[in-house]
Amino acid sequence: MKETLDAVLTDKGTKVHCVVPGATVLAAVRKMNEEHIGALLVCDGSDVLGIFTERDILCRVIDSPRDPATTTVAEVMTTDLVAVSPDTQVEEAMAVITEKRCRHLPVIDGGKLVGLVSIGDLTHWVSRHQEVHIRDLVNFITGKYPV
Ligand SMILES: NC(=O)c1ccc[n+]([C@@H]2O[C@H](COP(=O)([O-])OP(=O)(O)OC[C@H]3O[C@@H](n4cnc5c(N)ncnc54)[C@H](O)[C@@H]3O)[C@@H](O)[C@H]2O)c1
Repeated sequence: MKETLDAVLTDKGTKVHCVVPGATVLAAVRKMNEEHIGALLVCDGSDVLGIFTERDILCRVIDSPRDPATTTVAEVMTTDLVAVSPDTQVEEAMAVITEKRCRHLPVIDGGKLVGLVSIGDLTHWVSRHQEVHIRDLVNFITGKYPV
């Protein structure tokens, strides 16, 4: 499989949910719950400042403890952002996620944010492509493959 994140984004869509750094943790969590997502990119205009994830809520808000109604996203976000480009191969992106122990990868092209992929998107993509590959092999073996 030699597909790139471009293909994943064509399938998934390029919309990225963001939050401003001054938003409260409570407002950000409500947005994540409304959208059924586990992360928000923290953006100031077109500048990506960091990422705010479920893990940040567990480690830096609940366990501290900090008040979600008064703590800002900027205080608890992850600034050490791991990003990839749209021409990154799906397997390469999975390796990055494993190595860096993150679950969401912003996709940046020439300094511009063009999408976001999650560990779920990548595993879903791989398993779907394996299914197609297995079906093709079965059809080939059982003589159903078109000649
Ligand atoms: N990956 C999927 O297609 C998908 C969809 C719905 C639910 N789930 C379930 O949710 C759980 C975790 O899934 P996950 O690893 O994909 O993480 P997630 O719950 O954060 O992501 C769910 C979907 O939302 C997208 N998403 C997340 N944050 C986003 C953002 N800021 N901007 C734009 N899109 C964003 C992801 O790319 C993914 O497609 C798993 O149990 C999974 O089965 C997955």
